[in-house]
Amino acid sequence: MSKQTIRNERRGFFKAVAGAAATAAASPALFAGEAKHEGGGAYLAYDRKKIGSLEALKKSGTLNFSYPDAQSPCLAVYVDGEVKAYSTLCTHKGCPLVYNNDNHTFVCPCHFSKFDAAKNGEMIIGQATEELPRVYVEVKGDEIVAYGIDGLVFGRESNKLS
Ligand code: FES
Repeated sequence: MSKQTIRNERRGFFKAVAGAAATAAASPALFAGEAKHEGGGAYLAYDRKKIGSLEALKKSGTLNFSYPDAQSPCLAVYVDGEVKAYSTLCTHKGCPLVYNNDNHTFVCPCHFSKFDAAKNGEMIIGQATEELPRVYVEVKGDEIVAYGIDGLVFGRESNKLS
């Protein structure tokens, strides 16, 4: 292979790398068909799923469901007149969280991280470093419907198992 051929191949390689970088910079953080914007934020959209009744949630304060599949436990809670929902796997090492309806916190029995249900699953204290994945829900009449997740369910590379 001549020196000129090697130079031309290198030029082609660097042009391809520069082109790929420019394309990546032009389309930030959108995962093929999964991400949508909502009021400036983004979440991962999955199949819509009816998770329960608003009246029943108001009475009991909590509603267990799974989303986006049967192996992903979640809890909807009624806080400050709003329905909020979260994955119930701790973001530290995946232990199942316990919800305290009196102070609207999720507590991890493994290493005692604590998360605030009223503040979008924000971590209050503990070993975890991330807030709880929030499940987006919509209330229509008495029906509560899940439609997306902001965050990654513990232990997954993708929220939707194939
Ligand atoms: S697994 Fe929850 S704090 Fe460690």
